[in-house]
Amino acid sequence: MTRIVSRVEPWAFTLLLAVAGCGKQTADAGPTAEAVAEDLVSTLNCAPGFNKFIGPPPAGVLPFVPFASLKTVENPVIGINRVTGAPALRADLASYVADMNAAIQLGKAFFWEMQAGSDNKVACATCHFQAGEDARAKNQLNPGGNGVFDGKSANYALVAADFPFTDPALGRNGDNVAGSQGVRPSTFVSISSTGVETTVPGSDPVFGTMRQATGVNAPSTINTVYNHRNFFNGRAQNEFNGINPFGSRDPSAHIWYASSTTTVAPLSVTITNASAASQAVGPPLNPVEMSAAGRTFPELGKKLLLLKPLGLQTVSPTDSVLGALVAKKGGKGLNTTYGAMIQKAFQPTMWNSNAPVTLNGKAYTLTQANFSFYWGIAIMLYEATLIADNSPMDQYAATRVFDAVGNVTAENVALLNPVVSRLAAEGINITTNDILYGLELFEKPIPPPNVAGLPPSARFGGTGIGSGVGCNFCHVGAETTSASVRNLTAGVEAGDMAFKAAGFDLRMERMFMGDRTQPVVAPQPFPPVPPGTDQIVYDNGNYAVNVTSISGVAVPARPMKVNTYDVGWYDVGVRPILENPGVGGTDPFGNPLSWTEYFQKVFASPQTTFKVAGGGLTCIDANGNPVVPPAAPLTSVFAGEVLDPANNLPIISGGLLKTEATDVAGSFKTPHLRNIEFTGPYFHSGGKSTLKQVIEFYDDGGNFQNATVPPIIRPLGLTPTQMNALVAFLVSLTDDRVRLQQAPFDHPELIVPAGQDAAGADITTTIPAVGATGSATPISRFLALNPFAAQ
Ligand code: HEC
Ligand code: HEC
Repeated sequence: MTRIVSRVEPWAFTLLLAVAGCGKQTADAGPTAEAVAEDLVSTLNCAPGFNKFIGPPPAGVLPFVPFASLKTVENPVIGINRVTGAPALRADLASYVADMNAAIQLGKAFFWEMQAGSDNKVACATCHFQAGEDARAKNQLNPGGNGVFDGKSANYALVAADFPFTDPALGRNGDNVAGSQGVRPSTFVSISSTGVETTVPGSDPVFGTMRQATGVNAPSTINTVYNHRNFFNGRAQNEFNGINPFGSRDPSAHIWYASSTTTVAPLSVTITNASAASQAVGPPLNPVEMSAAGRTFPELGKKLLLLKPLGLQTVSPTDSVLGALVAKKGGKGLNTTYGAMIQKAFQPTMWNSNAPVTLNGKAYTLTQANFSFYWGIAIMLYEATLIADNSPMDQYAATRVFDAVGNVTAENVALLNPVVSRLAAEGINITTNDILYGLELFEKPIPPPNVAGLPPSARFGGTGIGSGVGCNFCHVGAETTSASVRNLTAGVEAGDMAFKAAGFDLRMERMFMGDRTQPVVAPQPFPPVPPGTDQIVYDNGNYAVNVTSISGVAVPARPMKVNTYDVGWYDVGVRPILENPGVGGTDPFGNPLSWTEYFQKVFASPQTTFKVAGGGLTCIDANGNPVVPPAAPLTSVFAGEVLDPANNLPIISGGLLKTEATDVAGSFKTPHLRNIEFTGPYFHSGGKSTLKQVIEFYDDGGNFQNATVPPIIRPLGLTPTQMNALVAFLVSLTDDRVRLQQAPFDHPELIVPAGQDAAGADITTTIPAVGATGSATPISRFLALNPFAAQ
């Protein structure tokens, strides 16, 4: 949701013109250093006959970003050999990785390795075993913000009637979180010479001696390599430092390399677009998820290097990645060692030295000392093979051809038939038209307000375009998320690309945030802005923009809140901000997780370093379609910079001010939506159990009217047919290889703890090993619920 979301702004903006009698607010509550400066004044000078409007994409470019097949997007982690088309190691990884396929094998073994848990029962996969997610229902509750289970208990088994946790219409306001159970509380003691991990059991104030559940719901590990940063609050940084999730925010982080076979030296690494690696080194030491408190990565390395890989688990001889390593006579585990796998996968400089590395006063081998590095890189490379890009909707989208104004001129709708027949077999009846209607609602902008005086073609880029609800403002493009590597580094929308070319940093955007004191129901009244020269003022005291004159005639000004935020992270109003600040939180060094606030804090004058793109007013002709550059160069209302008129940049673009208002608190990473049918419960709180509940949530305009909720989240007034259509579209995003656990989604056996019995012992479920051809039995949905049902 970068520039295109600013299309909400015309009506939001006109709110300030439409509401008469509100004189300029001059409340100067504690002016900041930069607010002491005079308000910045700029003029938007459209030629006669042209209206002020958000700049539509250049002529010839689709007026919206359509959903597209994920096959159209380059894998950010595994490259392509340009000659053969085969997967190839990304060039910057070649100095570390010797054999990509061996590294993928290692990553898959690490990911499914139960012995990685301090209790030998928790692998990464334990919370990500089904469609990359967690389908367990018992012992999954976390008490949420208030620290108590509100009538439930830690060992509670969730049932359908518990959902939705929050629903104003039902009078429900539950802060419990459907998380994922990890380990029982314990403290690390040692690893023996045979790889036995000794721990001391402990007790947690909330969970006692039971398995602890995470404070947010587990997202999917499938397609995760497309994320620019990972985790709901973005703390797994884009650049991997080899040691922990915090990238270059941790200046002390470094690994080691073999300067010779008898010497080692510290090595600082910063591997970009490696957020999956940053993420992967978090859970193994986390005392809730996988670890006894106080365990370190070299100790985990010491343990696993002594143990048979996957020694407690059966692996299918036809496993697409590990099959060749399966012991010939059957039995459990692989017929190799982690040491051998590491030596095959990584360059000798990363492990080949006899010199000890002293850490925390203890001597470790180079292989033990670098274990976090192998772990992160290998799991990232494995996750880079977990690409679900072949759903019926991907296949259909690949056949779609558009004309310049967004009409479909060719398509193969029959590719959606498998969705219809699959659901019909379950007694759920939908049609391909339902799916296509859902797609239209999802990908097209919101309906234009009914504007007397402007022809229909003047609305949001032309007839028929404003016929959706704009889900893809945030779930944009092939990745279905604006938090993608592609969107934040290159831009997905035509407007972003213009900004990128003009030197803007696409990780942030400045936007009109609407006016939450006004009803946010669509359609808003939208009087056309008369042509001529408008005077637009950035009011430093209120962090707001005013139009103070139109064509030289003074108008009553109403400050329109303007905020800068991290693109891809939004508050859609799932829970109150105070319960979980999301990307508005801080890292372990006390710095803001949000880029916007981090740059404001760390740079003396961020204005000169970071140019922020702004959605906002520019010129458009009376029919709404072609882009018309402003008659005169624009001055940014923000930083007083002259904006390049050729690019038609909106007037609130410009350098990041040290003290301008941000909109990050309570914002969470926009999740991608493939296989969403199988990844319930939903949202960071896990408080919705079916897709219908999610759509009802959006139809209600979210559950909480937090101050940071953007104006696009407002009551939608969807009909039952439209809600059904949106669910039908979401269900068409299931890749059958995921549903049937076929390669690359096949996997070793996994024994999963799922709550405890009366005696306090683990209840376990065994997920059988599956080979490359998958399983005849499809995976089931959370609590086996119908996605179209409200409960
Ligand atoms: C105890 C359960 C548990 C275990 C074990 C676990 N995870 Fe997760 N995982 C979660 C939860 C919960 C989140 C969301 C955390 C957050 O956003 O703050 C998550 C987030 C992630 C994400 C981020 C996805 C996204 O879209 O942001 C990835 C990738 C991931 N886990 C992979 C792994 C890997 C790799 C391991 C093993 C090293 C692992 N997980 C172990 C529960 C678990
Ligand atoms: C303003 C940006 C924005 C818009 C518009 C938006 N979403 Fe979302 N969506 C998000 C964010 C952010 C989350 C995660 C929120 C959280 O967990 O707190 C999310 C979560 C979801 C989820 C749950 C994903 C999961 O894995 O739990 C679904 C499904 C979804 N959105 C579908 C839609 C649909 C359908 C629409 C249109 C009706 C829509 N979204 C509109 C930003 C948006």
